[in-house]
Parts: sequence; structure tokens; C-alpha cells
Amino acid sequence: MSRVTLSRYLIEQTRSNNTPADLRFLIEVVARACKEISHAVSKGALGGVLGSAESENIQGEVQKKLDVLSNEILLEANEWGGHLAGMASEEMDNAYQIPGKYPKGAYLLVFDPLDGSSNIDVNVSVGTIFSVLRCPDHCFSQNDALGEEAFLQPGTKQVAAGYAIYGPQTMLILTLGNGVMAFTLDRELGSFVLTHENLRVPESTAEFAINMSNQRHWEAPVQRYVSELLAGEEGPLTKNYNMRWIASMVADVHRILTRGGMFMYPRDSREPGKAGKLRLMYEANPMSFIIEQAGGAATTGTQRILDVQPESLHQRVPVFLGSKEEVERVTGYHKA
Ligand code: AHG
Ligand code: MN
Ligand code: MN
Repeated sequence: MSRVTLSRYLIEQTRSNNTPADLRFLIEVVARACKEISHAVSKGALGGVLGSAESENIQGEVQKKLDVLSNEILLEANEWGGHLAGMASEEMDNAYQIPGKYPKGAYLLVFDPLDGSSNIDVNVSVGTIFSVLRCPDHCFSQNDALGEEAFLQPGTKQVAAGYAIYGPQTMLILTLGNGVMAFTLDRELGSFVLTHENLRVPESTAEFAINMSNQRHWEAPVQRYVSELLAGEEGPLTKNYNMRWIASMVADVHRILTRGGMFMYPRDSREPGKAGKLRLMYEANPMSFIIEQAGGAATTGTQRILDVQPESLHQRVPVFLGSKEEVERVTGYHKA
């Protein structure tokens, strides 16, 4: 049987599900950029790409060289094709304007160019997360600058989302709103090849992921839930749970997509003004879209993540996502 590459999958989607040709092109370009990032990541010290860039992003985080490089790769790959009205990223304060010499298109691309920065220098999996929205008609102009408000759409409006994971294998996980497909990079072919169709997150699980070092800062419902997980067979949940925390959201979510699990980054009292650590537009929304499309669930503890109306580009949200049973349990505890 001939292998289904990402290009072929996208062309078939164009035919059978009316995926517009410019969306197909957009995904192809993002995938190409991810290949380039994968290449840079895999060179590591040989490519001189490890370490910090001596700059900070808008969230006050020190940027790694690879954060900056990955951001540039995605911008350069996507700015000229005529498929985008604008871009936004973790690494840029404001919306990125398509240079005037290039045509503009119907979509908005939002991304976390390199997720899991703290893992780069220690040779642990990192990734790229992206979300695609339509540019609202009233915001679109071939001539005028694009404002932040064009991007402030709830996650339900995403037309596509995905992530690339740069691990032992480089993979691209994609949803166009009709299931989740996983492609593995064949380095000899230079193509992403469809290796996992219609990924499903098992409804129940006995594995959870949370940064336990923040325990003393959590709110009561999370304290209760995690103490029950830790109580195992002797506790109210009457089963033993295992724990994993990679500290790269892509890697933790990828494990959950593969074998189930529960991922949490709750709000905590370290910085009371901030609603957790993860960002809504380019971390929580695309991952929640993927998880829901795979039969899992994603909430802030009190609300479905995809329903959150964003108020700013770099807004943060508490995140509980993964196997439905556990997400529903902890969400229930927030209501109790
Ligand atoms: P980024 O590297 O894009 O800033 O994201 C890191 C995020 C996410 O990938 C991960 O789940 C989380 O931060 C890890 O947080 P801790 O450092 O608290 O473990
Ligand atoms: Mn991230
Ligand atoms: Mn990042």
C-alpha cells in the first residue's frame, strides 16, 4: 500500500470535506517550517542553537536562542504565501503584520514556536503548537494594519490546530475538526507520513501530570483532587495512579493522546494576577481542540476551554485536559 503523506492527506481532505485550498497550503507551509525547526533542534550544540538569547518576551521569560529562531522560521515561511491576514506568537508582544509587498489572505495563524523551552538544553522533547482562525471580515484589510481584536476569538472558532513534537521521532499532530491524525517525519523522504489515524483518548485513566512542586499554592478543588489521586487504592477513587511530568506541554499532551491521562496546570497563588501559567490562544486552545477531537475533554475547572472569550493575546488560563472521566471529576470539584 502506498504511504499517505501529509500532502496527500490534505488533498484528500480538500476533495471530501471541502477543506479550502488556501487552508491546505497554510498547513503545508507550517509543516515545512516545523521540519526546519526539527532540523535545528536536532543539531543542538553542533548548530550553536542551545542556550539563552539574552532577551525577554512579553511574559518576562528569558528567550532561548531556539525560541527566537523557531519564531523567525515560522514567520518567514508563512508571510509571503498570501494565505494569512496576520500572525501572533508567544514570542511577540503584538500581532505580526504581513509585509506590504505580499498579498494577504483569509486566515490568522497563532503559535507557540517552541514549547518546553526549559527542556531544550537538557535534550528532552520540545515542540511547536499552532492554531488557525479565520480573520473576521470587518477586521480584514489589504492595506491597514491588523489589530489584536481580530485574534480574540474563542477556541470553538479554530478551523485547524496542531503541534509538532521534536522527540525520538518528529511527529505532526493535526486536526481540521474531523478527528486527529498523526504524521511521522520520514527524514529520508523529507515528508510527514500518516502513521496514526483518528487518535482517541481513552475515557478513563490511571495516570496524571501536574507540577507537584506548586502544591502549596493550589486552590482547594485541586488540593482535594490531587490528594485523592495520591491516596490511591485506599482513597475515595479506589485505584492507584501513576504520575508523569515532562514540563513540555507538547510531550505531556502527546502521551495523553497516545495512552490517556490527565494534564493539569491550575491557577495558583504564586502570582495572584495570573490565571495559571499556560496561554489560552497558542497553548490551551489548540491543545483543547485536539483533545476534544480525540474524544477527551478540556476545561479551566469551571468552563470548557474552547468557550473562553479571549480578552488579550497573551491571556493565561488554568488547564485541565485529557481523559473525560478525570476532567469531569476535577471540574465537578470546582462546582462543589
Ligand atoms: P514555553 O516553553 O512555551 O514557555 O512553555 C512551557 C510550559 C509548558 O510547555 C509546560 O507544560 C509548562 O510550561 C511547564 O511548567 P513548569 O516549569 O512549571 O514545570
Ligand atoms: Mn509553551
Ligand atoms: Mn514557547
